[in-house]
Amino acid sequence: MILGLRISLLALVVLVHSTPDCISRMFPEGIVCVCNATHCDDIEPLDRIPRGNAVIYRTNVQGERMDKITRKQTTQPDGLLIELDPSTVYQEILGFGAAFTDSTGINILSLPKDAQDKVMRQYFGPTGTEYTIGRVPIASTDFSYSQYSYADVDGDFELKSFALPKDDFEYKIPFIKRAIELQASTGGLRLFASPWSPPAWMKTNGEMKGGGKLRGDVDGPYYVTWANYFVKFFEAYLAQGIPFWAVTPQNEPTTGSDPDYTWQTMFFDAQGESDFVKNHLGPAMRKSNASREVIVIGLDDNRFALPEWADVMFSDPAVSSYVAGIGVHWYNDTNSNISLLATTHERHPDKFLLATEACNGWLKVQEKGVRLGWFHRAELYAHSVISDLNNWVAGWTDWNMVLDMEGGFTWALNYVDAPIIVNESFGEFYKQPMYYALAHFSKFLKPGARRVKVDLPDHSSEVFVLGAVMVDGKRYVTVLNRNDTEDVTVSLHEKGVGSVYSTVTVPVHSLVTV
Ligand SMILES: *[C@@H]1O[C@H](CO)[C@@H](O)[C@H](O)[C@H]1NC(C)=O
Ligand SMILES: *[C@@H]1O[C@H](CO)[C@@H](O)[C@H](O)[C@H]1NC(C)=O
Ligand SMILES: *[C@@H]1O[C@H](CO)[C@@H](O)[C@H](O)[C@H]1NC(C)=O
Ligand SMILES: *[C@@H]1O[C@H](CO)[C@@H](O)[C@H](O)[C@H]1NC(C)=O
Ligand SMILES: *[C@@H]1O[C@H](CO)[C@@H](O)[C@H](O)[C@H]1NC(C)=O
Ligand SMILES: *[C@@H]1O[C@H](CO)[C@@H](O)[C@H](O)[C@H]1NC(C)=O
Repeated sequence: MILGLRISLLALVVLVHSTPDCISRMFPEGIVCVCNATHCDDIEPLDRIPRGNAVIYRTNVQGERMDKITRKQTTQPDGLLIELDPSTVYQEILGFGAAFTDSTGINILSLPKDAQDKVMRQYFGPTGTEYTIGRVPIASTDFSYSQYSYADVDGDFELKSFALPKDDFEYKIPFIKRAIELQASTGGLRLFASPWSPPAWMKTNGEMKGGGKLRGDVDGPYYVTWANYFVKFFEAYLAQGIPFWAVTPQNEPTTGSDPDYTWQTMFFDAQGESDFVKNHLGPAMRKSNASREVIVIGLDDNRFALPEWADVMFSDPAVSSYVAGIGVHWYNDTNSNISLLATTHERHPDKFLLATEACNGWLKVQEKGVRLGWFHRAELYAHSVISDLNNWVAGWTDWNMVLDMEGGFTWALNYVDAPIIVNESFGEFYKQPMYYALAHFSKFLKPGARRVKVDLPDHSSEVFVLGAVMVDGKRYVTVLNRNDTEDVTVSLHEKGVGSVYSTVTVPVHSLVTV
């Protein structure tokens, strides 16, 4: 809820239609918004809030998609009273974003030229989600055309063969540059990089896919070269005008213990990752202007490894001097207690937590791949953001920004879902409910916003609330109602501010930001 501050008497709803609307299309599981070279719906900017009013954005299973209304505040509460306490301040927001996978670029390029830029604006423009974080894979992932590294020549310890291939120049760099351009006016883009695997010749199993470790002694040439490879990556990207904020030493390091893992990975345990950062990666990065200021984010894997992973990293001051935070993925969240995040924060309060990857459709039992219009997946995203942030996570990063109708391209056949899906043969793309779910957070919680305390009475277990103060001081509350049967009416009140209430009904299966 974004609250204006004055009291007013009448309830009045004003609908504004100054931006292009969602052209909705019904699929068996729900509604998407259809965009093409000439049309795409915009999210109406927040702008100034008239005194005595609250601005409300609503997204729901019936088809509202970040629809904006302005409503008079009242002097009487109604329904569930939510008390916002801006004087009790928690973590500072780092931002929201997604990954520049090869597949994202491949799919954007499959659209007509004018539609391509519309996709970029949907994510980084002022009427889109206004993402402030981007994740960049170092070389290939499961969402690439092939398994490639930047130095595939066996035994090239000097990295003489190091070069960015055409995949980087075609599928990543132009889109990262465009995102930087679009974000320049609104505070800039924070980029972090993650490798899935070193070159095959550096790994014990001799392949990029499948479990394995770096070869040889922990102080031997493979370790030294692997650290230098990161630096070469930062130098090559800086030469393209792309500076980085952070790096994770390894995507999902725990998967590297599975010899049959079906795509690129490499194993580190907490001690191994710590030693690599302390002895090799950290010092190597400090030697180059391109990476001197780049901070390290540890773990970059599911939260079941917490808090122990963080305990190991931060118990060594030398490791801790490089590692500014911990990255968590959302897979298997249902198998691990959310309180692991808060525990990690309590033990290491000066380190941040950042959600570094998430996608729907990754599990067979959950229905693999793309499900057009399925609102349930928007609720899963919104629930993850709200519960993560309420447990000290400072930002949230989605996985592929754009996939095709199948959920690819993925050489590993690991089809999943994404907030934007391209229908190449018709030159159009579909904005899934997940896109709007993330917009409820990313559009308002810019770097520097602060989560604050919210109090609410006992209520249905399927209602979730997040409170924050925006960078410009506006009050923000998002309410998710996942209940199947009960609409909830909520009245938002700011602690210490007389009888001013912003009252709004949050229907079943909906997300409301006030
Ligand atoms: C794009 O979509 C709009 C709205 O549905 C439609 O009027 C227009 O004809 C479409 N343009 C193309 C090139 O398909
Ligand atoms: C690195 O940065 C320093 C300080 O800004 C500068 O003096 C130096 O020339 C730079 N080195 C290279 C190789 O660009
Ligand atoms: C993650 O969840 C999947 C499916 O429930 C399960 O097969 C797998 O063992 C889990 N992994 C871990 C490490 O908990
Ligand atoms: C999660 O952990 C908290 C705190 O340790 C505990 O109170 C709660 O019961 C746990 N929840 C589950 C589902 O295990
Ligand atoms: C692509 O879009 C066209 C036109 O809207 C539609 O008829 C077709 O079914 C879509 N393709 C798929 C695979 O849904
Ligand atoms: C939905 O809300 C009703 C009324 O508050 C409650 O009795 C019910 O348990 C809720 N359902 C779920 C799934 O939480």
